[in-house]
Amino acid sequence: MFFPAISGWDFFALDGSIPAMTSILIKGGSIITENGPVRADILKVDGVITKVGVVEDTADEVIQALGYIIFPGLIDCHVHFREPGYEHKATMKSEAASARAGGVTCVCDMPNTDPPTVTISALSDKVRRASEVTDCDIRFFFGVTSAIHLATLKDLWVSTSDELIALKAYCCGVKLYFDHSTGDQKIEEELIETVFEACAELNIPIIAHCEDPQVNTEAAKANIDEDVAAHSIIRPTKSEAKSIKKALALVAQFGTAFHVAHLSSKRGLEFVAKAKEEGLPVTCEVAPHHLVLSTLDYKKLGTLCKMNPPVRSVSDNEALWQGIEDGTIDCVATDHAPHTLEEKQAGKPLDAPSGVPGVETALSILLTRLQPETIHKLMFENPNRIFDLGKQGLVVGSDADIVIVDPTVKRQIHAADLHSKCDWTPFEGKEVRGEVIRVV
Ligand code: DOR
Ligand code: ZN
Repeated sequence: MFFPAISGWDFFALDGSIPAMTSILIKGGSIITENGPVRADILKVDGVITKVGVVEDTADEVIQALGYIIFPGLIDCHVHFREPGYEHKATMKSEAASARAGGVTCVCDMPNTDPPTVTISALSDKVRRASEVTDCDIRFFFGVTSAIHLATLKDLWVSTSDELIALKAYCCGVKLYFDHSTGDQKIEEELIETVFEACAELNIPIIAHCEDPQVNTEAAKANIDEDVAAHSIIRPTKSEAKSIKKALALVAQFGTAFHVAHLSSKRGLEFVAKAKEEGLPVTCEVAPHHLVLSTLDYKKLGTLCKMNPPVRSVSDNEALWQGIEDGTIDCVATDHAPHTLEEKQAGKPLDAPSGVPGVETALSILLTRLQPETIHKLMFENPNRIFDLGKQGLVVGSDADIVIVDPTVKRQIHAADLHSKCDWTPFEGKEVRGEVIRVV
C-alpha cells in the first residue's frame, strides 16, 4: 500500500529538477475568519500561503478581489461519492469537481459503497482512488454493521505499522446506521452498545444516521398511501427523536464523541440541545435540503425530494435555522447523495432511491440567509475540529485552498450549471445569493 502524506507537496519534479515557482496574489478581498471579515491580500507560492496582509509583491497571476469574500476551502463532512460500485450514479472525480465548483475542497465520504467501507482493503482502495483526484481532499468514514468490522476498526486504530498509520490518517471516524437506508448498512442492534464503548476508549468519533427501526417499521405497516408524500409519514419525526435519545443515553454512559448526521426535526434538535446543556460530547449537522425543503415540496418535486431522513414541516425548517443561529447546530453537511434521474423516476414513488445531490449548492443557499462568519463555523471550523481533519485555514504556511466568492450576485440554481454526474437538483429554480468566482 502507498498513500501520499496528507497536506504534503512535492518539491522536486519527477525528473529530479526543481520546478519553476508559481505564485498567485489575491488583492483586496475580505478574508472570512472566526472573528469576522478581515481585509487583506493573500500570496500563495507553489500551493502554500506565504503572506497575508498588505502584500506588494509581484506574482504570476494577480486576482483583484475587492468586494469579494474569501473562505478557506470549505468542508462538507457528509457526502456519498458512490465510488466504487455505483459509478453510473457518480464518481469521485465527477463529484469532486462539483464540490470544488461550490467552494468545497474537503469532504468526508460515507461507507455505503460496493464494496462497503468495512474492511482495510476497501478503505485502502478508496484512499488509492482518492489520491488520483485533485479537486478535493476526500476522507472516509469506516462502516460497522457487525462485530468483525469493529474488530478491524480497532486493529486499524491501534496499529503501529507505517502503512496502517498512513491509512488511518484518511479515516475520519465511524458511520453507524441505526436503520436501513441506501446500501442497507443497518448495524446489528445488539452491537450498538459495544461500538459506543470501544469508540470512547479509542477516541474515535461516531457519526450516526438516527432513525429508529421499530418506529419506522410500524409506521410503514400502518401506511396504505402510495403517494411519495407518505415517505415523511413512514419515517416520522418521532423515529428520529427516539433514535437520538437512545444514542445519547450511550453517550452519557461511555462519553463517546457522537455526531448526529442530517438532523431533520425540531424534536430531534431539542434532544441534542438538552444533551449539550448537560455537557455531553455531542455535535450535529443539518443538510441544506432540511433547511429549505419541506413536505409541501413533494407536490412539485415528487421523488426528487425523497431522502432519508425525509423532508419535514415548514416549522421544522424554521427550528433548524434557529438551531444554527443559537449555535446548537455545529455543521452544515449536504448528505450529497446522487442517484440518476431514471432511478429516481422509475417504478413506484415509494420505492425510488432516497437521496439528493447538494454539495455544489450549499454555499449559495447558506449565503442567502447567514453571515459569512457563521458559514465559516458551519463548513470549516466545526467539521475540521470534530473530525480532526487538520486544515489550517488562511494563514501563512498553510496549503489551504482559497475560495473567492462574490456575495452580491443574485441568481437561480439550475442543474444545467452544476457539475454532479447526476445532472439534476432538488433546488432547480431556487433564488440564491453568492457565486464562487475562483478556487485557487
Ligand atoms: O437519503 C439518503 N441517501 N439517506 C441516506 O441515508 C443514504 C443516502 C444515499 O446513500 O443515497
Ligand atoms: Zn448520508
